[in-house]
Amino acid sequence: MRMPIIAGNWKMYKTLAESVSFVQELAPHLAPFNGVERVVCPTFIAVAAVADALKNTDIKVGAQQLHWETQGAFTSQISPTMLQGLVEYVIIGHSECRAYLGETDETVNKKAKAALAHGLKPIVAVGESLAQNEAGETESFVSGQVRGGLAGISAPDMANVVIAYEPIWAIGTGKSASGDVANSIIGMIRGVVRDLYGNDVANALRIQYGGSVKPENMAEYMSQPEIDGALVGGASLKVADFTALVKAAAESKGV
Ligand code: 13P
Repeated sequence: MRMPIIAGNWKMYKTLAESVSFVQELAPHLAPFNGVERVVCPTFIAVAAVADALKNTDIKVGAQQLHWETQGAFTSQISPTMLQGLVEYVIIGHSECRAYLGETDETVNKKAKAALAHGLKPIVAVGESLAQNEAGETESFVSGQVRGGLAGISAPDMANVVIAYEPIWAIGTGKSASGDVANSIIGMIRGVVRDLYGNDVANALRIQYGGSVKPENMAEYMSQPEIDGALVGGASLKVADFTALVKAAAESKGV
């Protein structure tokens, strides 16, 4: 059985002080649901303080980005060695980074490999645009992102990879894929991984859905067999909502 994983991607929200007080309030609410892996991904400036605030809990911390080099003349960037010991997860290839920061399948791949080489677990985000969706290109585009993002990653390393399927048209728009549709695309992604790595890796891989996940629609996703959790933006910024998402995951998956 794959352990469900709910990750809150805070994007560019919350100051340092807000981040710390938020997790102090959140932690006791999430404590009962230890059958679900719970992750918060603050901005870089808050990562260390949030990690410290959560050190006596089983809530994990993730980063939203990293560079593939360990150090160098890369103004503004953060390296895997800087994140070691602070975070367990790192989101790579978010559509906002692909759209605004020039992230490509090639840089996603370099970053995923760098994360794994330093003991960090990448959450590799993929997803099609509205135009691609309407043109019937979802499967070919998303499977290309998966193949490109995972190129050269070993089968043993795949145990530490999570994939997040986030259709771009559903992010922050209030529109979301139906549970059935998300389940079938995620099943397709698992099929690509099966093709690349075989059954054992594919069956163990956790794949999240992301895009306007809310307390009201969480059970619809979590009751789907292929969907192992969620990567959540807006609803992860409120204690009550994030708690409700984790609770719904625990109930739907029976953990
Ligand atoms: P929303 O949940 O705000 O739609 O954002 C989804 C997302 O981009 C998570 O990475």
